[in-house]
Amino acid sequence: MSVRSTIATGNGPAPSTHAAGMPGPGRSDADVAERVDALIAQMTVAEKAGQLTQYFYFDLPPSEEHKDLDLPGAAPGREADVDAALARGEVGSLLFVTDPAKINRLQRLAIAGNRHGIPVMFGFDVIHGLRTIFPVPIAMAASWDPEAIEQGQAVAAREARAAGIHWAFAPMVDIARDPRWGRIVESAGEDPYLASAVAAAQVRGFQGDGLGSPGRIIAGPKHFAGYGAALGGRDYDEVNLSDSELWNVYLPPFEAVVKAGAGNIMTAYMNLNGIPATGNHWLVAEVLRATWGFDGFVVSDAQAVHDLRTHAFAADLTEAGARAVQAGVDMEMTFGDPAYAHLPEAVAAGLVDEKILDAAVRRVLTAKARMGLLDAPYVDEQNARIVLADPAHRAAARAAAQRSAVLLRNEGGLLPLTNPGSIAVIGPLADSRRDTLGPWVFDFDLGETVTVLRGIKDRAGAAVEVGYAPGMRPAHRTFPSMFDQFSGKVPVDPPGFDDAAELARAVSLAHASDIAVVVLGEWQNMIGEAASRSSLELPGGQLALLQAVVATGTPVVLLVMNGRPLDLRWAAENVPAILDIWYPGTQGGAAVADLLFGDVAPGGKLPFSWPRTVGQVPMIYSHTVSHDPRHQDRRYWDEASTPLFPFGHGLSYGQFEYRDLNLDRNHIQPGQTVTVSVTVTNAGERTGDEVVQLYIRQRHGSASRPVRELKGFQRISLAAGESRTLTFPLGPAELRYWNSAARDWVIDITTIDVFAGSDSTADLTTNFTIGS
Ligand code: NOJ
Repeated sequence: MSVRSTIATGNGPAPSTHAAGMPGPGRSDADVAERVDALIAQMTVAEKAGQLTQYFYFDLPPSEEHKDLDLPGAAPGREADVDAALARGEVGSLLFVTDPAKINRLQRLAIAGNRHGIPVMFGFDVIHGLRTIFPVPIAMAASWDPEAIEQGQAVAAREARAAGIHWAFAPMVDIARDPRWGRIVESAGEDPYLASAVAAAQVRGFQGDGLGSPGRIIAGPKHFAGYGAALGGRDYDEVNLSDSELWNVYLPPFEAVVKAGAGNIMTAYMNLNGIPATGNHWLVAEVLRATWGFDGFVVSDAQAVHDLRTHAFAADLTEAGARAVQAGVDMEMTFGDPAYAHLPEAVAAGLVDEKILDAAVRRVLTAKARMGLLDAPYVDEQNARIVLADPAHRAAARAAAQRSAVLLRNEGGLLPLTNPGSIAVIGPLADSRRDTLGPWVFDFDLGETVTVLRGIKDRAGAAVEVGYAPGMRPAHRTFPSMFDQFSGKVPVDPPGFDDAAELARAVSLAHASDIAVVVLGEWQNMIGEAASRSSLELPGGQLALLQAVVATGTPVVLLVMNGRPLDLRWAAENVPAILDIWYPGTQGGAAVADLLFGDVAPGGKLPFSWPRTVGQVPMIYSHTVSHDPRHQDRRYWDEASTPLFPFGHGLSYGQFEYRDLNLDRNHIQPGQTVTVSVTVTNAGERTGDEVVQLYIRQRHGSASRPVRELKGFQRISLAAGESRTLTFPLGPAELRYWNSAARDWVIDITTIDVFAGSDSTADLTTNFTIGS
């Protein structure tokens, strides 16, 4: 039997670096509390319920496009109900308004309607930028660069705050291990260590030094908890997670955002182990608040309180509201007909104690006070125009897109391009501005969006001949996208498109060019919320297009525009260079050209294991060892059970060699720290970027632990011939794990193997022991 030492890290509030409770500039905790309590003392139960209600405000025109809108609960004309609630002083927050003039108009209504003059707080899905669109979140995670990630969300926050928005429903910190799930694009991928670092960086970017920092907004990490593990990758479907997976994999990014001081948390839609997350007292009241010490406010996902009835968890809306607020969900996000409007009834019937409402209202009003809303509720419309036009934001987006690209393959050093006389740019995504931006953007400026074609043309200059052929028509979804319906822009085929002629044109262009850059992937409406897939194949005739171009014999660079891994088995054997550019955002095409021409070196790394085929998913690098590990790569008889590209994979224009993996000691007691050092040299001929990765494996102990677990990383840039020695701590935070038998965090008496290298298959290794 193994000996283990239990360390008390599972209970008690986590230390905060930027506590949500931290007052903003000029607002002391005592002042805020006094002001908020004075307001609560004067409020009726209906006014309290109103502060706990957040309405969508779509302002959908009653147009033809919207008449059959298939959005749960959304309906043209609903805004009249919201206006009436504003006039009664019974609205706490609004979402989906981004026009500063409209924000001011609604704020005037709110303040005039509320007896106490309490303003509403404006929230929005600021996922990867407001006007300046950054690469999608999975791409930002692929940068493995917390500083770039923080800067990106700081720009997003600055634009949002200038527009009058106080709160972002981001970051999404759900672990995503099943790429069929469309929301993998909003995630940081499969790994809890990487995802926690990415999540905390985003919170710092949104919030700065704490709620109320100028030009910053409240971060609302979501969806608490387990949403990424939807059965079959089907969005919104139930989630069943073991105790070990919950604590070791799915909860750590949430704990990280609480430690980083996030002001808000959003609950998830689905059942977690049979209990709807939005009515789950254990999850919200016990884990989030009591165990981690979260002191911000909690909002439901849209309509999720209502859904407690749909889940057969509550008999009616009164019970749904009562159970959600009792679980600790302070605010209901709703399309209309809020369950929280029934809270006065629930209080009168003795279903909820009014003190629970008071505590929820206190948390909401405290956020408003800290954000300065009670003193300065209106937005400066003139300033909004200036901030949104700031060219520094575009420059930051371009740098982010450079850093997030992942060079998957570069046979024969095809990249960077060396003085081609002519380039064929091929594929319908190569010149699609909307697709370049990716999903989850609403307020973008298409006019300033740089496609891959535009970026290459601008960079190549007049001396290089750049031709373009789409080669095929855009592919479509089988079922329409929720967002396309919402925007009234369901894609249709280009009129008079001649498939055979367009394919022939693309092939002859490739034939006549020195190099072909083929841009393939998924259209942006194929990924994101309500965009799960049963396949990972390139949609439409894209593989055939690629094969036809490769058959010309012209060297091909494949650029993949995606938010999930796609089936690239053929490309990985037949296309010499593959660069994953994700949905790279407003400046995406410019950044891609910078990379192709070698003005900057790629250095991103995969935040997930890239499967060969959909039949392998979910597939993770951090699996445990089980019976017959010798045949771990042959679990299927028809396909290798290894990934096409491993977690952490990504090449650069340098060549990196690792040596001298050393420890400052070979034996520690539980609770002590080992310092690991490793030296990395760029043995190539060009400057390159590398993400140095550190993994551990526990040899034996009181649980079966993964074959590899990421426990440290640093992104560096090294000139040709340059070396650097890096150090990493391995202490209690890295060595502990949740033991589902002990139901606690433990550090085992054991031997720990340490690996350092370029990806999760790194083989440079050493080890140390943990003992008494
Ligand atoms: C539903 C999504 O699940 C959530 O992530 C989003 O923030 C809300 N809708 C608001 O748009």
